[in-house]
Amino acid sequence: MGTQQAAAPIGVFDSGLGGLTVLRAIRERLPGESTVYLGDTARVPYGPKAAETIQRYALEATDFLVGKGVKAVVIACNTATARALPDVIARAGVPVLGVVEPGGRAAAEASRDGRIGVIGTRGTISSRAYNAVIHEQRPDAVVLEQACPLFVPLVEEGWTEDQVSRLTAERYLRPLLDEGIDTLVLACTHYPLLKPLLAQVVGPEVVLIDSAESTAEALEVLLAEAALGNLTGQEPDARYYVTDEAARFDSLARRLLGEEVDHLETVSVDSTG
Ligand code: DGL
Repeated sequence: MGTQQAAAPIGVFDSGLGGLTVLRAIRERLPGESTVYLGDTARVPYGPKAAETIQRYALEATDFLVGKGVKAVVIACNTATARALPDVIARAGVPVLGVVEPGGRAAAEASRDGRIGVIGTRGTISSRAYNAVIHEQRPDAVVLEQACPLFVPLVEEGWTEDQVSRLTAERYLRPLLDEGIDTLVLACTHYPLLKPLLAQVVGPEVVLIDSAESTAEALEVLLAEAALGNLTGQEPDARYYVTDEAARFDSLARRLLGEEVDHLETVSVDSTG
């Protein structure tokens, strides 16, 4: 791989804003890398949609990022990873990383007794993608999966510390806690923002696994193995694209990333329209 390719940005996409939790983890771990983020804000949420629809969306996002000259693609969306990872790998022509494998592996390693809870959107949970990764690592594991469709709108509303969110979390998590889980995978981009509240609900005995952090770690390994790390010393930049109005994204992105979003543009990635 040439220096030019190593200096190229990393492409990251999500159905909307939530993938910024993954982007933030990547930028913290790999501060020398440029990034291009695509949030498909016009078509969020992906969670309740059919697998074929998500596959089409994921391929359109991939084409967009590859068109921007990225050296690797990170699918920073659990639903898109669970539904479309093989399609994206076949299309991209550059290394691809999803969030499911790093999160699933981290859970299998962290769990004391192999009793692992997984929470995500309906799409992620019904794909059973985490179940498969965890069982590859730990065939004896007991994996208890729970779709939590109300969490995404609660986070988007900013109710990350709210009583309504606490009650919702207690209701979703009670059956998993009754089954004695010792580890809980936050298998959705939005859930890391609920981490303090979820930690209180599950108590100190349950380890929370954040796919964002494990994905950033896995990306570091992937770039090193493919000799794609940016060693040029060039000042990295971060570009952001959304498929709907930029204004709302801008204010939430600043809150999530803790920094200004300089380059932000609205684009269309829909190949049918
Ligand atoms: N990004 C999605 C995920 O991680 C959550 C939001 C959505 O449903 O699109 O599953």
